[in-house]
Amino acid sequence: MSDIRNPGTSESTDTPRVVVITGASRGIGRLLARKLGAQGAAVVVNYKVNADLAAESLADVEAAGGSGFIAQADVENPDDIDRLFDEVRDRYGRVDAFVSNAAASAFKPVSQLKTHHLDRSYAMNTRSFVLGAIRAAELMHSGGRILAITSYGSQRAFATYAALGAAKAANESYVKYMANEFGPRGITVNAVNGGLIDTDSLDFFYTKVPGMAPMESVLEKIPLQRPGTADDMADAADFLLSAKAGYITGQVLTVDGGLTVVAPPYWADTTGALRAAVLGLPDAPDPLVISE
Ligand SMILES: NC(=O)c1ccc[n+]([C@@H]2O[C@H](COP(=O)([O-])OP(=O)(O)OC[C@H]3O[C@@H](n4cnc5c(N)ncnc54)[C@H](OP(=O)(O)O)[C@@H]3O)[C@@H](O)[C@H]2O)c1
Repeated sequence: MSDIRNPGTSESTDTPRVVVITGASRGIGRLLARKLGAQGAAVVVNYKVNADLAAESLADVEAAGGSGFIAQADVENPDDIDRLFDEVRDRYGRVDAFVSNAAASAFKPVSQLKTHHLDRSYAMNTRSFVLGAIRAAELMHSGGRILAITSYGSQRAFATYAALGAAKAANESYVKYMANEFGPRGITVNAVNGGLIDTDSLDFFYTKVPGMAPMESVLEKIPLQRPGTADDMADAADFLLSAKAGYITGQVLTVDGGLTVVAPPYWADTTGALRAAVLGLPDAPDPLVISE
């Protein structure tokens, strides 16, 4: 039965929900694809180069109870985005949810960003989201869900993250504009903003960017003291795509273990009784008494 409060979700359609996920061959996109497959969705598993991994991802979806197909498309290229959605339209005739997940960027100081870095980062991370959302919305005949996967660099300034952070900030702004414009059609538009999430790209950032600070120096400052997992992100995305999130739109849900709420002086740099109190050690003296 169609549920007017929950268009685009598994509760709103008698046929499999059609979900397009960019960059679903690995990482967060792949886990999300599997979760949605377990709910019976038809998942369009987009990838750029790793056809084998995309096929494995689709196999995960099918093993979980879903269906779908793999779709090679470089989302930096508008013609590829059109080809992707043309194929979805030809196969299913509609889209119920679109997740703009694929991302890539150069990690450099602002002073070293060249024109091609700026142009490609915009094309890859922001233009792809907007063009994909436009095509997806055209195919959402009775409401739907649009979700952008963004990251901590939209909210705070992290070393070498400017090009990607600015693109993600632009996407979070587009989320608000799209939520406003697409709302009357029953389409919700939100973002899941991740902190340090344990995937290939996190490894690249901390081990391949020359001179980058060690990951441990950041992890100890995160209130939950660990990196996030792809599962943490996929769970948040799953929620915003679900019937439970039917009245949430234009929002950014941050999944970062508290990373973006901390500022110096860091608890991790405190010592003695103050540090013991933060760690909740049973015999920790009251730090306020110490300071007297
Ligand atoms: N990992 C983190 O620390 C972190 C933190 C916050 C937010 N995020 C965000 O989470 C999202 C997913 O990140 P992830 O770490 O899960 O990624 P990942 O493991 O590095 O996987 C990237 C995915 O994007 C695909 N892709 C790359 N370039 C593409 C292109 N031009 N066209 C189509 N697909 C393309 C890849 O396909 P191939 O396999 O074919 O290359 C792959 O499926 C991104 O938006 C990222 O910014 C990540």
